[in-house]
Amino acid sequence: MAELLAYCRAGYENDTAAELTAATAQRGAYGYPVLQSDSGYVSFPLYQQEDLHTLANTLAVADTIFPRQLIAVTQTHDALDKQDRITPILETVRDIKEIIGMSGNVLVEYADTEDGKQLAKFCRKFVVPLRQALRGAGLLTKKESDNKPFIHVFFTDFDTCKIGYSLPQSRNPAPMGIHRLKFPSDAPSRSTLKLEEAIVTMLDAHQREQVLRAGGRAVDLGACPGGWTYQLVQREMYVEAVDNGLIADSLMKTGLVGHFAEDGFTYRPEYGRVDLLVCDMIEQPDRVARLMGDWLVKQLADHAIFNLKLPMKKRYDTVVDALTLLTQRMTQAKIAFNLRARHLYHDRDEITVTVVRHE
Ligand SMILES: C[S@@+](CC[C@H](N)C(=O)[O-])C[C@H]1O[C@@H](n2cnc3c(N)ncnc32)[C@H](O)[C@@H]1O
Repeated sequence: MAELLAYCRAGYENDTAAELTAATAQRGAYGYPVLQSDSGYVSFPLYQQEDLHTLANTLAVADTIFPRQLIAVTQTHDALDKQDRITPILETVRDIKEIIGMSGNVLVEYADTEDGKQLAKFCRKFVVPLRQALRGAGLLTKKESDNKPFIHVFFTDFDTCKIGYSLPQSRNPAPMGIHRLKFPSDAPSRSTLKLEEAIVTMLDAHQREQVLRAGGRAVDLGACPGGWTYQLVQREMYVEAVDNGLIADSLMKTGLVGHFAEDGFTYRPEYGRVDLLVCDMIEQPDRVARLMGDWLVKQLADHAIFNLKLPMKKRYDTVVDALTLLTQRMTQAKIAFNLRARHLYHDRDEITVTVVRHE
């Protein structure tokens, strides 16, 4: 059975399913979601098998919100022989080679849940003989190659796995779609990792240069204690940190930060405009999206990176409504921009949005 497989944060299966339904339909492909609450993944069987490869080509993880990774699954094995799991997997990968040619790597993965973690040790060990066997059978390049398709083997228990592939232009390059980061010990809060992950995974190298110019100016709304400001200061930007709370002394000592104990909804930049607006205020998503729109449309900021805190229900719909409104306003103002929204690994009940104006 041809199906899309999406990994997601446990608890976000319904949102991922709603997004897959919309994203596949937009591309003229149809299927239905199959999910279990808190499983950390969603299967999406397709009515037309031939749609699978089209989706693998055209539906990029980077353009979605909730999926951490997307895999074009061609087969599920649900009664693997514990003595020989490799032979049936090899057969499936042979069939996949007919569609995509030689693969550059194989990843053996599991859901990012407590149940999934029971499989972690097994998966880490199993990939070694599997990789050898695939290379021996001429199904994998001798050296790992990032610009080739990857094979994914996703175990849901010790004798059940889904086998599929991802293409370089569409996949999340991080294994299991999780980009882990080391917490910088001198950062004032763990929130710093959210902005770092957004900078590293949502902006390309050119956008990073454009948005985070050393010597450039930024406003950080809801800045305290300063985890996001820390990321900007690391990149030698001047920051207006807006929040009634306490900002870390270490940031003030850099001489790059001004602290303004004001309301983020009425604050305006000291010198009339800034290069970058960031915002991590805990507020209604539509209210935050409207505020971001005000700054971008009135050209108070060229670019924005912000969090939208998610409600308990209808999270996908809420996000789409907020971002549609923002997009419409920017388009009406004839501003050309690139908008991405992602539920990042370091996000909890929130998503991160980047809006980068075209040069
Ligand atoms: C999640 S915390 C921000 C954490 C920060 N990004 C960091 O990395 O350390 C949210 C902050 O938003 C601030 N906040 C909430 N509403 C605000 C408003 N209307 N104006 C300014 N700050 C606000 C709160 O005081 C709180 O410090």
